Amino acid sequence: MLADGAGNPAIEHLRSLAAKYGGPVLQIGVATGLFALPLVRDGHEVVGIDLSESMLGAVRGRMTTEPADVQQRLTLETGDMRTLDLGRRFPLVTMPGNVFLYNLTQRDQLATLRAMRRHLTDDGVLVIDIFTPDLRLLAAGSGSVQSHRFRTPEGADYVAEQTVLVEPLTQREKLRMTHRRIGPDGVLGPALFTEMTMRYVYPAEMLLLLKVAKLRLYELVGNYATGQRKSAYDGPQVVVATRGE
Ligand SMILES: C[S@@+](CC[C@H](N)C(=O)[O-])C[C@H]1O[C@@H](n2cnc3c(N)ncnc32)[C@H](O)[C@@H]1O
Repeated sequence: MLADGAGNPAIEHLRSLAAKYGGPVLQIGVATGLFALPLVRDGHEVVGIDLSESMLGAVRGRMTTEPADVQQRLTLETGDMRTLDLGRRFPLVTMPGNVFLYNLTQRDQLATLRAMRRHLTDDGVLVIDIFTPDLRLLAAGSGSVQSHRFRTPEGADYVAEQTVLVEPLTQREKLRMTHRRIGPDGVLGPALFTEMTMRYVYPAEMLLLLKVAKLRLYELVGNYATGQRKSAYDGPQVVVATRGE
């Protein structure tokens, strides 16, 4: 399922970083290509990595409708964010769309940061975009149910329902999702079930993780447009970092 990226401020923020730092861009956890496509359309070379062959297949399918030069600028490879070693370095290494939260242990988080670091040029920057844990949700405990509708770029309508199960001690959030396609007559199709587990990262924790991985925080963006944060828990947690301690 491909969510529509039109007007997404996270995408605009990534585009502005790519314009500033230039390519080639390494994108780890390329998923459906939502964040990679705007960059290749802008003229940047992008190397997109994902653990999932089916995700990479979705991006390849999506690319077939793009002009030949745009297609040529995107290279896709299977890889694990924790062990990735392409033997080359990039001025911009990106991990958008909460992919960092798929590291379920501190060991994996550090392995991922070190993998990102080894792909950075000496003056390159990395950017990790994750949500800031919602402490109100934590306080409310498990079991909250959210429901929303969305349309894919191909024009298919879906209704998604998700149940959030929170484990405060392990900082894990299990999402149980059900997607149903909405037919032209409003009749719902069969339910497709998916489940995923993420580990929350708190802002102060991220600062320590960066330090241990020998990365220096350059900017902690809490508002895509202004870059400012009102407090540590305001807005997304967009970490821009460089090599260094
Ligand atoms: C929920 S998706 C991100 C979706 C993104 N927001 C989007 O719309 O394009 C998470 C992605 O991270 C990938 N992923 C999870 N663990 C990974 C790992 N260890 N290494 C590389 N990719 C991984 C998954 O295969 C999936 O494509």
